[in-house]
Amino acid sequence: MTSSIVLITGALTGIGRATALAFAKEGATVVVSGRREPEGQALVAELKAVGAADAAFIRADVREEADVRTLVEQTVTRFGRLDVAVNNAGVEGATGPITEQGADNYDLIFDSNVRGVLFSLKHEMRAMLAQGGGAIVNLSSVAGLIGFPGASVYVASKHAVEGLTKSAALEGAAAGVRVNAVAPGPIQTDMLERFVGRSEDAKAGMRAGNPAQRFGTVDEVAQTIVFLASDKARYLTGQSLAVDGGFTAQ
Ligand SMILES: NC(=O)c1ccc[n+]([C@@H]2O[C@H](COP(=O)([O-])OP(=O)(O)OC[C@H]3O[C@@H](n4cnc5c(N)ncnc54)[C@H](O)[C@@H]3O)[C@@H](O)[C@H]2O)c1
Repeated sequence: MTSSIVLITGALTGIGRATALAFAKEGATVVVSGRREPEGQALVAELKAVGAADAAFIRADVREEADVRTLVEQTVTRFGRLDVAVNNAGVEGATGPITEQGADNYDLIFDSNVRGVLFSLKHEMRAMLAQGGGAIVNLSSVAGLIGFPGASVYVASKHAVEGLTKSAALEGAAAGVRVNAVAPGPIQTDMLERFVGRSEDAKAGMRAGNPAQRFGTVDEVAQTIVFLASDKARYLTGQSLAVDGGFTAQ
């Protein structure tokens, strides 16, 4: 992993941040992206401190194709190539029944979760196809594998990520570009807090409904992403690995 150039979108918090730290500890060069420059520069210093060969922050809102194109171009210009991309940026949007859904929530969720992943894949794959290989990991969710009442738009967006992952994998396979997804269950992050609404009862119910009887940690997802991006997974493409304590095995 020492020589790998790794790019992570939405890397300033939660799973993205833990993934950046995990790659840094492996000695990779890590490009973290997000929308908040001061947090990004602070993370760069942290990544260098834990062992990154090099690190940089490049601002990008994944809803803007021009931002994503520039992000990939600047990464390749500065570091020579793009070995690994983690398309992590995503939003949960508002919950509620289908009968109450409006265009605002649809646009909010699909713009980041689907359009963002599509255009990230587009520019990352162009770079990887040109250099003859690479590995991409998309952040899906257990909501990309099964339905959840009250979360239909988020569920639909993550099912779209599953579809993009499979199609991109088929387009990249012969050229050595692997594309996989991780599908986390409930992971202790700010997003989970927002989703569950900070209700201790709701959280206790979710923990009890999980075979492992607990939420996952950001590092447990990060380690799976590092594996999928590594040469140990070199014959693995077009797959989605659920990191969910057994939730979708029920
Ligand atoms: N936490 C969970 O339980 C869980 C479960 C399944 C899947 N996920 C997925 O994991 C990913 C990371 O989520 P998290 O739990 O770390 O939450 P989080 O809210 O901490 O992280 C999401 C990050 O993406 C950034 N982001 C959102 N929209 C963006 C945009 N348009 N451009 C750039 N950055 C943007 C946010 O600012 C934030 O830093 C998301 O795709 C989420 O859907 C999370």
